[in-house]
Amino acid sequence: MLNTLYRFARPALFALDPEDAHEATIKALERGLHPRQIGADDPVLRQTVFGLEFPNPVGVAAGYDKDARAADGVLAMGCGFAEIGTVTPRPQPGNPKPRIFRLVGDHALINSLGFNNGGHAAALTRLEARKGKAGIVGVNIGANKDSADRPGDYAQGIETFSAVASYFTVNISSPNTPGLRDLQAPAALDELLSRIMEARARTVSQGAPRRPIIVKIAPDIAQDDIQPICDRLIAHAVDGIAISNTTLARAGLTDAHATKSGGLSGRPLFRRSTTMLARVFEATGGRVPLIGIGGIDSGETALEKIEAGATLLQLYTGLVYAGPGLIGEIKSYLSREVRRRGYSDLSAARGTKAKQWAALPL
Ligand code: FNR
Repeated sequence: MLNTLYRFARPALFALDPEDAHEATIKALERGLHPRQIGADDPVLRQTVFGLEFPNPVGVAAGYDKDARAADGVLAMGCGFAEIGTVTPRPQPGNPKPRIFRLVGDHALINSLGFNNGGHAAALTRLEARKGKAGIVGVNIGANKDSADRPGDYAQGIETFSAVASYFTVNISSPNTPGLRDLQAPAALDELLSRIMEARARTVSQGAPRRPIIVKIAPDIAQDDIQPICDRLIAHAVDGIAISNTTLARAGLTDAHATKSGGLSGRPLFRRSTTMLARVFEATGGRVPLIGIGGIDSGETALEKIEAGATLLQLYTGLVYAGPGLIGEIKSYLSREVRRRGYSDLSAARGTKAKQWAALPL
């Protein structure tokens, strides 16, 4: 039903510039003009992860709701959690437009937005206004492009949002802020994570709940760097790892926009991000909860992420091409498969194909 509706809505949205189409979607979510899930989720989809109770594992990825305008709409559509951001301490305009391109034949997007966002204060005001409402809402934090102290920007994010964020995602993997991905280097990670964990300890000592900290990484990390990076993440006791952000790789594209600069997302990212997910699952011995992101566009690809090692899932580009009905479609498929296989819950499928996935060449 929803899929049929979206078949009519999509041409109208696709006639608009991608950024304008996105703004129209967010406005609809803000006004409550969106499909709603009726009834509760199947209990087999429920999981407690980082101490939080997720009614289902499907979330919308960061960048969809950069300024915390639509978290309740996202949750009402049936997502198990929402993530706002990336937010930076000060507002910034991002890169010049046009900066989002649809690669329709490839079911992909390329974006070079560069953390356009309204800054911490504006997002905080919106999240404070929804305080007390149910639902898991994570805050994805970043650094201003012109910041003289990028680790300090992340620490500020932790301090600013601790009262309202269900969890934090530390985004050090956007390709559109020059030098940001350098924070993934083991030595840089040490300084960054020390500052972040100190900031969290300060908020806890001031009475805030201990908020889980997830680190979001790129799919373009060299094989030799994966283990050292995972070792640093474990040494600093991060609560989870999100894999992955968009890629700079461009293999296998057919669309004329393939040469645009920026991060590629959607179907062509699926294999790379799932391989990276499985490699991180292996490098962490399955001991750290992982959020699998990149190219999920069906129940099958969602389950494949779990089998590669994911505990939770996020998607963005799949929603642009398939519409909001995809959320329910993925959940129905996962429930059916859990029951058909005689599993008690989703965790039985986790990592069962990690070895095969990790061995794939990129
Ligand atoms: C993103 N993504 C992203 N990630 C992030 O951590 N902070 C951000 O601000 C953004 N912004 C953003 C904008 C746009 C237009 C897109 C398409 C993506 C990356 C996103 O969260 C996700 O990691 C990737 O898009 C891969 O997932 P999909 O889109 O293939 O499901």
